Amino acid sequence: MEKTTTILVIGANGQLGSVLTEALKGKYGVRHVIASDLRAQDGYEGIFEIIDATDIDRVQEVVAKYNITQIYHLAAILSAKGEKDPLVTWDVNMKTLFNVLEVSRKNNLDKVFFPSSIAVFGEGASLVNTPNNAYLNPATVYGISKAAGENWAQYYFLKYGLDVRSIRYPGVIGYQSIPSGGTTDYAVDIFHKAVQNQEFECFLQEDTTLPMIFIDDVIRATIELMEAPATDISIRTSYNLSGTSFSPAEVVEEIRKLYPDFKVRYNPDFRQDIASKWPKTIDDSNACKDWGWKPKFDLQSITKIMIQKLKEKYKKEIKNPNALML
Ligand code: NAD
Ligand code: SER
Repeated sequence: MEKTTTILVIGANGQLGSVLTEALKGKYGVRHVIASDLRAQDGYEGIFEIIDATDIDRVQEVVAKYNITQIYHLAAILSAKGEKDPLVTWDVNMKTLFNVLEVSRKNNLDKVFFPSSIAVFGEGASLVNTPNNAYLNPATVYGISKAAGENWAQYYFLKYGLDVRSIRYPGVIGYQSIPSGGTTDYAVDIFHKAVQNQEFECFLQEDTTLPMIFIDDVIRATIELMEAPATDISIRTSYNLSGTSFSPAEVVEEIRKLYPDFKVRYNPDFRQDIASKWPKTIDDSNACKDWGWKPKFDLQSITKIMIQKLKEKYKKEIKNPNALML
């Protein structure tokens, strides 16, 4: 008899987790997706468990309670926040991953998803059209933890046959939440400021081109990778993934087509040093070849949707000031 797929999402309250969980519920059913995070999510519809993934016993307990067959492990401390306390970042990012890998191995889980990042790259790689197998010398503790994590994912696959799959996400742009702690966060915040007719202070230089991806593309990529036949997965560290690439100046130009008076000040901070060492564009030909990846959203379409969705949200907030904005 075929096993029922039951998924545990760890880090479900975050920028990606909150959207991915809904997509998985739509696909597998509300009773077959268990959302989890450090704190409960207000108004969450479905099954939610509080899990600190640094606690292996708690991860094991929830996996056993629901007969979990797949884990999407999203919990991590991101690049900019990670630099504030490097040892804590290393500890959280690695311990949570080891706990997920160990529990998955011991319980014979079918599949595990672990997101990596463009942060694995550094000055040793060609930063234009960066190939999947470029030299990895990340400059942030976050990037080091992701590069190590990718290799551990491959190790568990080779040594134990655990089907771990991974994507190096570009900066994710979505309207559902306000991200914090990342170096690419400006590319979400800027839309919020534009629709509120506020001036935007950008922590990156205007010409800093980075790989970015719209939330719908990133969720689709994740599910497509997880659903691909195992025999098609030729990369067991992590797949490069490309959505689009742009600089702050380019997104400002796009926003000004709709908000001609939109004002921006550039005030680069420590995040500029991080961004300067990351790729500008990504070669994702392996993902295209192995599991048919193709992005749908470019800067123009992302701008249109972000502005439309955020306008709707802020309008709702004005009508009902007690409503939660996001
Ligand atoms: P986020 O910071 O918005 O969410 C992370 C979630 O993990 C938070 O809700 C947090 O409470 C939770 N968490 C932290 N420590 C935990 C622990 N010990 N146990 C359980 N939960 C814990 O991050 P995100 O943007 O949603 O990113 C999700 C994943 O995707 C991360 O692994 C991140 O590295 C990766 N990623 C994100 C981006 C991006 O642009 N958002 C880009 C590349 C990779
Ligand atoms: N968007 C993420 C960050 O800026 C990249 O992993 O940290």
